[in-house]
Amino acid sequence: MEKKQFNILIKEKFKNINLIAVSNREPVVHEYSGKKIVSNRSVGGLTIALEPIMRNLNGTWIAYGGGSADKAVIDKNNKIKLPPGEESYSLKRLFLSKEEINGYYYGYANSVLWPLSHIVYKQPEFNSKNFEIYKNVNKKFADSVIEEIKSIAANNNGLQDETDNIIWLQDYHLSLAAKYIKEYDESLKIAIFWHIPWPNPEVFSICPEKKEILEGLLSNDLIGFHILYHCQNFLKACEWELEAQVNWADYSVTYKGHKTIINPFPISIDARSIYDFSTNIDVNSEEFNELKEVIEPSYQYLALSVDRIDYTKGIKEKLMAIDLFLEKYPEYIGKFVFLQLGVPSRMHITAYKEYYDEINSLTEQINWKYKNDDWHPIILFLKQLDLKSYIYFYKTAAIVIVSPLHDGMNLVAKEFVMSDTNYGGMLVLSKFTGSAKELSDAVLINPYNIECFADSIKQAIELEPEEKKQRITKMQNIILDNDIFDWAYNFLSKLKTI
Ligand code: F6P
Repeated sequence: MEKKQFNILIKEKFKNINLIAVSNREPVVHEYSGKKIVSNRSVGGLTIALEPIMRNLNGTWIAYGGGSADKAVIDKNNKIKLPPGEESYSLKRLFLSKEEINGYYYGYANSVLWPLSHIVYKQPEFNSKNFEIYKNVNKKFADSVIEEIKSIAANNNGLQDETDNIIWLQDYHLSLAAKYIKEYDESLKIAIFWHIPWPNPEVFSICPEKKEILEGLLSNDLIGFHILYHCQNFLKACEWELEAQVNWADYSVTYKGHKTIINPFPISIDARSIYDFSTNIDVNSEEFNELKEVIEPSYQYLALSVDRIDYTKGIKEKLMAIDLFLEKYPEYIGKFVFLQLGVPSRMHITAYKEYYDEINSLTEQINWKYKNDDWHPIILFLKQLDLKSYIYFYKTAAIVIVSPLHDGMNLVAKEFVMSDTNYGGMLVLSKFTGSAKELSDAVLINPYNIECFADSIKQAIELEPEEKKQRITKMQNIILDNDIFDWAYNFLSKLKTI
């Protein structure tokens, strides 16, 4: 839906809305660059999706301040108005110690809940001390929400008005926060959107803290997942682990007298803005000369991926598929180049560091196997770029490969489809992403099946231009029908009915 329409519909539903969004990751990071302070937009699906919503609803966003200059730019209430130059919402920063980040973020969230939820055969590293820290940090986020609620009440002089205070928690970092907020005031409306998959009950059952996690989540009034399958897995876990009363007719769980609705809300992007922005980008313009130099070997077909360097993203499998593709179809040697964009992430976790090293050495091996004097097939360019640069590459690529072993949604797939305003590209998409449910006109792959993956690369490149255009147009219409404003409106209006 159009931004304008979103604002009208929200006004119809809620007379006044006070939205408090809470996430680990902040939308904008302030860093020192010498003596100057620079602000950078955070990468990652959560912040990209939520930012346009906060701009429109003028709410407060509570998040961990991780930038070196984050403390230097906030007021006495830890707040800063964003975005720079078009101030519309407040970011309220919360600060964590090194020990807290190690135990809560690297430890419990990303070494337990992350591998457990994705089921990519990476064993979670259970550690009760990290869980304690995770609990305490969730309490800290809850306290920051409560402080905000108190200050809203003080500004209203304790008068009840028709304002809806809505607390919207984001993601697996904050599975326990609702419990602590409800302990302060049971009547507060709280919801969480879980941005990653929810595993099947057999996998979830190995988690030592499974009951506490489920109980924490069931303190919310509404829980959103991307797809129905994740909702079903969650409901089954509630039956198995808590013997809670599950109502499969309305997808709700009643536990200790409190009812929680569990529904799918497939997340998306600000599709119209990206389409319009991309339409105005001319890839032949001189402003892209520096980016053109990123791809030194000459090529006829560019394959592109944009991923955080993460073992769930199937980057190794993709490199293996490219190797096999060149072996099976040698006519592409010297003509095909694969460019991997993205950023290293969570590098303090050994599994991530090892994965990063493996990708580098696999790239080296494959390049050595095929290279000639002025051509090699794989380029890793792992630096953060702005949206315009990503769109330049999307528009230049013959195919974009999105091949996670498991992913809640994956917004790169949607971003590429909306950027393909010349209809010259094609999407190769893992069946194990939430976005494959909507984008079934992509060339769908099982990234574990390397042989079929290699064949699909060829198939996608060789699709007739007319078919590419038809498929991309169909997918663009699907994305436009459920963009980020639909997502937020559907979620918030569901919460209003509870
Ligand atoms: O996909 C899950 C998620 O938490 C997203 O919500 C976010 O975009 C991404 O991972 C980035 O993670 P991090 O905040 O750890 O860099």
